Amino acid sequence: MTSFKSSLLFLTLLLGLCLAANSNAPTARSWRDISGRINRHSTGLVQDFRSAFQRVFSVQPEEDDLDKNIEQDFIVGETTDEYDDEDWKSSGSDETDLDDALDGTSPTTDTANPTPIPSTSPWKLVQMHKGTDFFKGWDFFTASDPTHGIVNYVDEKTARKNKLLEFNELGHAILRVETTPTVKSKRMSVRISTKNYFNGGIFILDATHIPFGCGVWPAFWTNGPRWPYTGEIDIVEAVNDYTHNQATLHTDYGCKLPSTSSGKLGMSGKVIGGVDCGAHSTNNQGCGIRAASNNTYGKGFNAIDGGMYAMKWDSTGIEVYFFKRGSIPKDIIAGELQPSKWGKPQARWPASSCNPSKYFVDHRIIFDTTLCGDWAGNVWGSSGVPGQERSCKARTGYARCEDFVRANGAAMKEAYWVIKSVRVWQKV
Ligand SMILES: *[C@@H]1O[C@H](CO)[C@@H](O)[C@H](O)[C@H]1NC(C)=O
Repeated sequence: MTSFKSSLLFLTLLLGLCLAANSNAPTARSWRDISGRINRHSTGLVQDFRSAFQRVFSVQPEEDDLDKNIEQDFIVGETTDEYDDEDWKSSGSDETDLDDALDGTSPTTDTANPTPIPSTSPWKLVQMHKGTDFFKGWDFFTASDPTHGIVNYVDEKTARKNKLLEFNELGHAILRVETTPTVKSKRMSVRISTKNYFNGGIFILDATHIPFGCGVWPAFWTNGPRWPYTGEIDIVEAVNDYTHNQATLHTDYGCKLPSTSSGKLGMSGKVIGGVDCGAHSTNNQGCGIRAASNNTYGKGFNAIDGGMYAMKWDSTGIEVYFFKRGSIPKDIIAGELQPSKWGKPQARWPASSCNPSKYFVDHRIIFDTTLCGDWAGNVWGSSGVPGQERSCKARTGYARCEDFVRANGAAMKEAYWVIKSVRVWQKV
């Protein structure tokens, strides 16, 4: 364990150096986000930092069916890391520790002399949040909701105290909104973003429950520090009683879908509006794609015990896949990702008309649940969307989203996430 100790010492020194060297990054103001300060490291330090941390993180073996071929799991600690283009593509000696850890001997196997399972995928697990350690490695956003919802985003301590953060009997993380019967103004909720940020990768959410109900607007998404110039990728998002997921990009000027045809795009979903993903050129709408099936979000998703959402962001473009529970591809279960075998994505934005490394930079992963606001509130009186065949206004008898949400805590009882894991894979 000496090397472990010296790693820690080395890290502490590096952390000090980095903090001292940090400059103020620009503060983002956006439709979705006011990101706050982003601490950047110089590239040289990043490499050291990353491999050093990975060494520290790789000491915890773990038992899980899904992980049986992943020899070591990476539990994320309290740090900021950076994955730049170089990291994304690099396969230098810095990465050896990660490879060794992943390809090494499984501590969970029965055999006396276990044989390492050969890696057949270039994608390596670089980050994981799961179980009772789920909330390690996230920042709690406590500013007012940039999307004008009637929520108070609270810090971790307040969230735990008020049972907004919990674990179910299976040890899966729960994030919920306050269900107090009536509130004067806002309900407490949680918005978390990873301390680490990414430039490309495969991001896999395994969830069994997504918040829904009139007034409810949850999202699982990624976002860069300067909105919309560094892009936003909404992986799981919809409002009210919608039953079909809507994956959306919001970008700087110039990123487009090459077509509105699902066939030409090679995806199962449908383009909702136009092909322009530019936030400023579409009044913040971006380019959304609605899933074809009613078990991809909300009530329908929850009824089938959910499943996995995988967002792939690499040099070919951005894709969002949904796999129902019971139809999770074997390669994902085995931990050796083979995305070419996943079939049609739910949504796809090819690189040909939207350069993925230009429009999307330094993304953190985010969960939030807001109430009313710019989307859920604005479509309160609308109908005709799958799941919301009748408007929330007609069904609740309330003319305004805000009045309903303030007076009906019991109606917020389905407004919670149950998350088995969030994992990030990169070609390293
Ligand atoms: C989904 O669609 C099927 C077939 O139309 C229907 O029977 C089912 O009730 C729908 N589920 C939800 C949650 O809307």
